[in-house]
Amino acid sequence: MSQAEQKELVASTAIDTLIKDKKIFSGMKIGLGTGSTAVPAVKHLAKRIADGTVKDIKAVVTSFGTQNLCEELGIPVYSMNDKIIGGHLDLAIDGADEVDPQNNVIKGGGAALLREKIVAYNSDQFVIVADSTKVVDSLGTKFHLPVEIIGEARVPVTAALNKLGAECFLREGVRKCGPVITDNGNQILDIVWKEPVDPAKMEDVINGIVGVVDNGFFTKNKPIVFTIDSDCKVIQR
Ligand code: A5P
Repeated sequence: MSQAEQKELVASTAIDTLIKDKKIFSGMKIGLGTGSTAVPAVKHLAKRIADGTVKDIKAVVTSFGTQNLCEELGIPVYSMNDKIIGGHLDLAIDGADEVDPQNNVIKGGGAALLREKIVAYNSDQFVIVADSTKVVDSLGTKFHLPVEIIGEARVPVTAALNKLGAECFLREGVRKCGPVITDNGNQILDIVWKEPVDPAKMEDVINGIVGVVDNGFFTKNKPIVFTIDSDCKVIQR
């Protein structure tokens, strides 16, 4: 099964399983993630809204990309700050770049980590949908951890991250000169260590550096992870 087929399968199965388990229900407030696995999840949810399985879903999105998709699919989008949302969601569903055995996650490959974390950390239930390539033994040495920074603080933040043993790379735009600018107007440093790190500790230490807005370690609201096993079956862990 190709990686794209895995993404479709895990995303659609997760949505139907969550509906069956009453974790996705009519009238709920749901956070919708960003990326090529979140897209089929949002599309499948739209199908279940269209066929009347779930009604009156209120979505909070994590990027302009997902906002555009919801507008196209007719899913009503709200702000976290809207009175009807009240800064809290019932469930958030999103993709991941890497997931370790404790369900710690790296996110932000699509530079949407900040709004993804706002949504994930303010939801009763966080759900990750991930193809089998995302499941790893440890975090920090393979997929580079995205760190969203204030552009003016790039040099001191880089020095502080170097002191933590990380190598830093400013994420460059594609078909755009200069750095990637996030949906929040910030820049991204992609960082990597030679040895695995403790993601829970590093999440806090990195966020303590002045000029860092947030980083792509998600360790505080442990997700249910839907992924694919070696027999191409969707599993939950
Ligand atoms: C977006 O910034 C990311 O956190 C994505 O959720 C993550 O990179 C997974 O993306 P794919 O599903 O496209 O692999």
